[in-house]
Amino acid sequence: TAHHRGDYQAPAWWIDTVELTFDLDPAKTRVLNRMRVRRNPDVALQPLRLDGDELNLARVMVNGGGTSFRMDAGQLVLENLPQDEAGFDLEIFTTCAPEKNTALMGLYVSQGTFFTQCEAEGFRRITYFLDRPDVMASYQVLLRADKAAYPVLLSNGNLVEQGELDGGRHFAKWVDPHKKPCYLFALVAGKLVARQQRITSRAGKEHLLEVYVRPGDLGKTEHAMHSLMASVAWDEARFGLSLDLERFMIVATSDFNMGAMENKGLNVFNTKYVLASQATATDQDFSNIESVVGHEYFHNWTGNRITCRDWFQLSLKEGLTVFRDQEFSMDMAGSPSARAVKRIEDVRVLRTMQFPEDAGPMAHPVRPESYVEINNFYTVTIYEKGAEVVRMMHTLVGRDGFARGMKLYFERHDGQAVTCDDFAAAIADANPGSELATRLDAFKRWYSQAGTPCVKAEGSYDAAAQTYTLTLSQSCPATPHQPSKLPFVIPVELGLLAQDGSALPLQMDGETAPGTSSRTVVLDTASLTLRFIGVASPPVPSLLRSFSAPVRLDYAYTDAELLTLLAYDSDAFNRWEAGQRLMLRCAINAIAGSADAPSAGGQFDVEIMGADLLTALRRTLRDPQLDAAYKELVLTLPSESYLAEQLDVVDPQRVHAVREAMRLQLATALQSDWEATYEASQDTGAYRPDAASAGRRALAGQSLSMLCLAAQASGDAVWPGKTLQRFKDAGNMTDRFGALSALVTSGHPHAAAALARFHALFKDDALVIDKWFALQAGSPDRGGNVLPAVQALMKHPDFQLTNPNRARSLIFSYCNANPGAFHRADGVGYHFWVDRVLALDAINPQVAARLARALDRWSKLAEPWRSAAQAAITQVAGHAKLSKDVREVVTRALETP
Ligand code: ARG
Ligand code: ZN
Repeated sequence: TAHHRGDYQAPAWWIDTVELTFDLDPAKTRVLNRMRVRRNPDVALQPLRLDGDELNLARVMVNGGGTSFRMDAGQLVLENLPQDEAGFDLEIFTTCAPEKNTALMGLYVSQGTFFTQCEAEGFRRITYFLDRPDVMASYQVLLRADKAAYPVLLSNGNLVEQGELDGGRHFAKWVDPHKKPCYLFALVAGKLVARQQRITSRAGKEHLLEVYVRPGDLGKTEHAMHSLMASVAWDEARFGLSLDLERFMIVATSDFNMGAMENKGLNVFNTKYVLASQATATDQDFSNIESVVGHEYFHNWTGNRITCRDWFQLSLKEGLTVFRDQEFSMDMAGSPSARAVKRIEDVRVLRTMQFPEDAGPMAHPVRPESYVEINNFYTVTIYEKGAEVVRMMHTLVGRDGFARGMKLYFERHDGQAVTCDDFAAAIADANPGSELATRLDAFKRWYSQAGTPCVKAEGSYDAAAQTYTLTLSQSCPATPHQPSKLPFVIPVELGLLAQDGSALPLQMDGETAPGTSSRTVVLDTASLTLRFIGVASPPVPSLLRSFSAPVRLDYAYTDAELLTLLAYDSDAFNRWEAGQRLMLRCAINAIAGSADAPSAGGQFDVEIMGADLLTALRRTLRDPQLDAAYKELVLTLPSESYLAEQLDVVDPQRVHAVREAMRLQLATALQSDWEATYEASQDTGAYRPDAASAGRRALAGQSLSMLCLAAQASGDAVWPGKTLQRFKDAGNMTDRFGALSALVTSGHPHAAAALARFHALFKDDALVIDKWFALQAGSPDRGGNVLPAVQALMKHPDFQLTNPNRARSLIFSYCNANPGAFHRADGVGYHFWVDRVLALDAINPQVAARLARALDRWSKLAEPWRSAAQAAITQVAGHAKLSKDVREVVTRALETP
């Protein structure tokens, strides 16, 4: 039962208004749904088919009287309905059981509080409805519940009435002034407290901002509130988009499938992206909160005011909103260097998560052609690659042009449910004659063609003529159902460096004067040749600056050229990238090489990185001009999964052993620099989570990890001792957790006691205990020690499979994020995975389907892993009672060519 993009049909009926009355009860909640329904005159007459899932239907009435109906494949089907323009009243009475809802879709209970999650198709678990985003209605919601147990009653929009009822109950009535699709409906009821903030917008309007949490967590809401205030101000300043509600609420829950949800005026968040204090949250947490609060807030315009016509258009709102939250974080970070750090972090996510997805069995275009379960398509492709597609449009029309395009998009489509084509057309139409407008159809292949394109670059220098010829050509591998691809429109930002590292002005054949030292060319054919003139010496090309397109770049750099770029490139992204390429090259040579086979213990004795590279890295560490955050990124090796992606056949143990050997080499060869860096990176004064101080702490943490690793090898006790002391004395979670990680990941004997102490200190803080589980499950494998530890932790009293954060912190940290430990030669890691996928699927299909993707790349594995992984997937697929979520993932995995 796959859904296909081409099958879209406008709804045969509209629902204009909805009046919902809830009698909230965990065991049996009663829902009265009164709708005004009207025929869509543009569509041939059809029965009204309302979606429903796990509902108990008690009554259906049309215009106040009984009516006949039938059930068909879970849908409630009504025929012979009034067809006049005025429409008719449809009243449906159902009940549901929120406390039994472990899937966390629809209405559920978390720690005694009611929450909803409706995107994508959860509203049908609350009442029968046209559960599709192009049906937009006005909502009035009456909530009734026991007052002592549920003192706070929230829904979308404005609170218009509240009061007491008999029997200790009370009510609240909410009216949403904006029409919305049902996936943006929300209600919350429970014992909550709020941080409140009144603000006045640029436009002079007053708004109430609220962050609701459990009593006791109020002290951890300041950062979320500040992030929300900053988001409101940023969207006004950058895009002229103001808050369109009197009241904007965020509510935190510890049981949530995803990060957060942009319900109109009532965002529901995973506690992970709300709660923060210096003592309990790391700098990474602080920055994630800022970015997720921004993301959900920005959806208020890009997603809510203009929404998706159908779920194939999901990237219309997600790609655009990720682009907006990335820009927000960059603007908040401030300095050009801090912007580059954010860009590198975003590209790292894209390349370690999205590139593998785009090369694997779940590969799909940014606008998919078909799906079985839409929840499986909330992917890094829709989100992160979608954001890159928007970023390329931004590059092709320029910053001001993009702002004009956004303005036109809202002029045309405010209040509508539209498509990715509509968005691209608005950006192009606002910029006639632009690089985008002149090749819009070809550009839109980024929406329709899956796979990561490869850009091959070849240069040749003619000393006599002083010209440099650069040929760029593109190709894209086949993906499921797409054997061949048409050329993409690829903006390539580039520059040329002289051998001494200075930037050369760029002058192309036919141009009368030398131009700037960086420019963007557009590769929109299979191949393109550029000729630069007046080039006095053989240049080093700096290509795809700022990662101007989501492609792989293939250029046969010499080590010397990469060292030049690492030392001198004015583009911070490419400077970092040069270091990554050098490290990657060493790793790949070591993985391929047979001479430097690991010793019996699986350890590489040989030196993998050469003296030149180590010198360059040392110079980076010592460079007073560079920010700490940037240094930390340059000195971080490519991840095991990124390394694996560069290989045709993957021996995950060898990849792990090589990378660990490189870490050790970095630790010992640069030991005195790590010591100096650690001492120089200490915080002075009060803790602040801003980008600059966070960068210093990140570099200090990295130094400490390196020093503990070096000490483990040499048997030295000084640095582990210092690390343990820092762990005990730390004034913030970043330093404390950094020290703990250094002990755990270096496998130091102090680690066990430190872990026990950490647990005792934070046993009442679920988010910190998640970190405690994740650290142990994600720690580097030493002779197969991680799986037994994970199995023991499964029996820990704090472990709970039903809580997604906890399941992710232990199981996903092992299966999806620790390849060296998961891909065991004895296949036991895969057996563990099979059991956990099946156990989770019975509780929460959405979470189970994410876990199921841990073996997406099985066909690349060497033997014996490949056969063992295939057998494990086959075992899951052979289970009779799978959700369609997991079924779709394993079916596609086994279809891998
Ligand atoms: N729209 C939400 C966001 O991007 C994600 C919600 C996804 N939820 C789901 N159940 N698939 O912030
Ligand atoms: Zn989103």
